[in-house]
Amino acid sequence: MTTTTQKLAVDGGTPVIDYALPTVNNSSGRSLGKEEIKELTEVIEGGNMGFISGSKGKMLQEKFRAKYGMDVAICVSSGTAALHTAMNFLDLDSGDEVLVPSITDIGTILGVMLQNADPVFVDVDLITQNMDPDDIERHITPRTKAIIPVHLYGFPCDMDRIMSIARKHKLYVVEDCAQAIFTKYKGQLVGTFGDLTCISFQQSKQMTTGDGGVVMTRKDQLCGRKLIHCHDKAWPREKYRDHLFLAPNYHFTDLQAAVGIAQYDKLDAMIDGRRKSALHLSGLLADLNGVYPQGDTADGFHTFFNYDLPIDPDAFTVDNRVLAKALTAEGVTCYPSFIPQPIYMYDVVAKNYPITLDMCPKAVKACYSMLYIPWSEKTTVKHAEDIGKAIKKVLHYYAK
Ligand SMILES: Cc1ncc(COP(=O)(O)O)c(C=O)c1O
Repeated sequence: MTTTTQKLAVDGGTPVIDYALPTVNNSSGRSLGKEEIKELTEVIEGGNMGFISGSKGKMLQEKFRAKYGMDVAICVSSGTAALHTAMNFLDLDSGDEVLVPSITDIGTILGVMLQNADPVFVDVDLITQNMDPDDIERHITPRTKAIIPVHLYGFPCDMDRIMSIARKHKLYVVEDCAQAIFTKYKGQLVGTFGDLTCISFQQSKQMTTGDGGVVMTRKDQLCGRKLIHCHDKAWPREKYRDHLFLAPNYHFTDLQAAVGIAQYDKLDAMIDGRRKSALHLSGLLADLNGVYPQGDTADGFHTFFNYDLPIDPDAFTVDNRVLAKALTAEGVTCYPSFIPQPIYMYDVVAKNYPITLDMCPKAVKACYSMLYIPWSEKTTVKHAEDIGKAIKKVLHYYAK
């Protein structure tokens, strides 16, 4: 039943928002300015842009190492590179198994596959879409070596339960914090629970260097390898050209590090900006039927990589693809979900591993049970109010 007479923009009505919202894809949504330029100028004038001989990468690494209380932090060329470096560090054998969530970016599992190990897909929580601890243990076999919990959208996984399962079965934990820099679980930074942690600085992330990332471990030589070798052709630089095992070059340049240092110093403020507007929007949507606005919980401090709005698909006359299109027409760029299908359904994955369509039913449903709105540190409370009006207009229109 239609509950409003407002004509939707997608049907030729007037859009709620007639201006461009900030986007992380340009300066409207990013805090990039004189601080980054100053750091970059120092690198250019110093004439040394490389990871090995430069100093900025080492400075940024030290900031992360100290903040996360790690043994070592290595900046790398992407979040995917961080995760591949972590898998190489764990020295996996062919046929080893690594438990991964079924909703995530492919970067979470590429490192597993590239090291000839097998990703094993775990179902997710329908609301947070994070790995469901209830589904982890049934996938554990004698070949299981590690779990990769992904703190999706900036909200933490249930780390108490994941760590207790890992300890019981003696599994390594590699935290994928690509979307969750400075996210906290029970007041503690995510990334500080497991054996390794991986963060992405890609353009849309809470802090950015265009592309890039960092991988950290609390115990270097955990598996007989040094983390630095795993991203540097396994070349012990103190020696004259030797290569200890197979490893790519995933160097982070000092140009990226220059931007990273300036971005890191603004990170608390940038996360604050994301949180203020996102939490305001969640408050505005609290009474709306058929949606589950996200925010902090007793255990979770949300850093809002994007604004994920779980919905009850049965509350609406159309699916989330139609809702997302209508919302976009109202001036709010919106996608129906983070990924269109569980990660194991992509051909590149499915052709390599035995999958069944019903192996993670909640992950399948989750892809139809959300609206996914890009967010930025420059999205203001006023923007959130306009976005709220657009969401209400569309969801009222299509309410059952
Ligand atoms: C959860 C997750 N893991 C890994 C990655 C890979 O990061 P990158 O794009 O920096 O390679 C991403 C990227 O969006 C991600 O969202």
